[in-house]
Amino acid sequence: MHFRLTEEQIMVRDAAREFAQTELLPGVIERDELQQFPDNLVKKMGALGFMGIMVSPEYGGSGMDTISYVLIMEELSKIDASASVMVSVNNSLVCYGIEAYGTDTQKEKYLPKLTSGEWIGAFCLSEPEAGSDATSQSTTAIDKGDYYLLNGTKNWITNGGRAQVYLVIAQTDRAKGHKGINAFIVERDTPGFEIGPKENKLGIRGSDTHTLQFNDVKIPKENRIGDDGFGFTFAMKTLSGGRIGIAAQALGIASGAYELSLKYSKERKAFGTEISNHQAIAFKLAEMATDIEAARLLVYKSALDKDLGNTYDTSSAMAKLYASKVAMQHTVEAVQIHGGNGFVKDYHVERMMRDAKITQIYEGTSEIQKIVISRAILKS
Ligand code: CAA
Repeated sequence: MHFRLTEEQIMVRDAAREFAQTELLPGVIERDELQQFPDNLVKKMGALGFMGIMVSPEYGGSGMDTISYVLIMEELSKIDASASVMVSVNNSLVCYGIEAYGTDTQKEKYLPKLTSGEWIGAFCLSEPEAGSDATSQSTTAIDKGDYYLLNGTKNWITNGGRAQVYLVIAQTDRAKGHKGINAFIVERDTPGFEIGPKENKLGIRGSDTHTLQFNDVKIPKENRIGDDGFGFTFAMKTLSGGRIGIAAQALGIASGAYELSLKYSKERKAFGTEISNHQAIAFKLAEMATDIEAARLLVYKSALDKDLGNTYDTSSAMAKLYASKVAMQHTVEAVQIHGGNGFVKDYHVERMMRDAKITQIYEGTSEIQKIVISRAILKS
């Protein structure tokens, strides 16, 4: 077993750290406050190779491994989880989905633009009545011969208002249950496709989350991903990798809050000494450091599973379940360590606490991760 990053992985991590400090940190409080999407930063991240981290260079990607992906996600998320979720969805749901399961034509048409930051993508599975219960799709894609007719509503879609490419999951044949579901590539300017209201959220307020409406949208047959009926398997397989990204995001949020707390505790004085000299604070820091390290091992292990070609459905669910719990628990502690200052926006930790919550909800709630894990262990 090797617990050492390669030279290349260290370089990539340091580049992401530098980018987060110089480009994401300025304005992060304002973007959160005003719910501003960082349009200008998408192209910069594209230029750095962060928008197509694991995509083959043949399609404009960086051709890096999943470990590099989680290192980048961790560093971006330490500073700005709104920017990192946009990166995660583009990389592990949209680019991966198209590269792993798309046709050559689909890959050539969409990946170069998605990896360069010229375009971003969105992944549309959730519906008003189908969040966790993903097989109960109400959106329909009826086969009309040389096209599909798409009708329905998708909810809570990350990058919803800004994307140019939407991967949409819909029911073609209800009688076949999950085997009657398909996945499609829908372009932004397709007639009948409407971008609905933007959500006013508790956290990740700088990310762009919308309801989407499809009214008699004609989707050419060649925009279907995979064989007829592959859509649910496509969604599940893609989400397994997506969960590694969100686990890395949770790890980054927790690490960011921990680093700020450590620094603050060595500067802030109370009762005649720096607060880090009080066990009440030192013990909190010890628990944070230990739990974050445990989360990091689970996240890296799952990324390594993917890189080695092992199955990673269970390890990604474990990584997401644990890292998101650590993120929630320890961002609350970070606010506590900062005392009154923790409640003030300038100190960043209150934003991290709000951002942490979504990591226990999107790409499968913690309860969904427990379903995935318990089914796997009971079957084994
Ligand atoms: N890989 C391949 N196939 C899989 C699979 C996987 N990882 N998981 C399930 N399947 C297959 C099963 O084998 C089964 O096929 P068979 O019947 O042929 O055996 C089929 O899919 C149905 O599976 P289940 O019976 O397990 O289905 P279920 O209804 O019990 O649901 C679930 C399973 C795990 C709960 C699933 O519905 C799920 O993951 N729900 C959560 C959905 C989710 O994560 N939504 C997030 C939205 S995306 C998002 O948040 C993006 C964003 O913008 C940030």
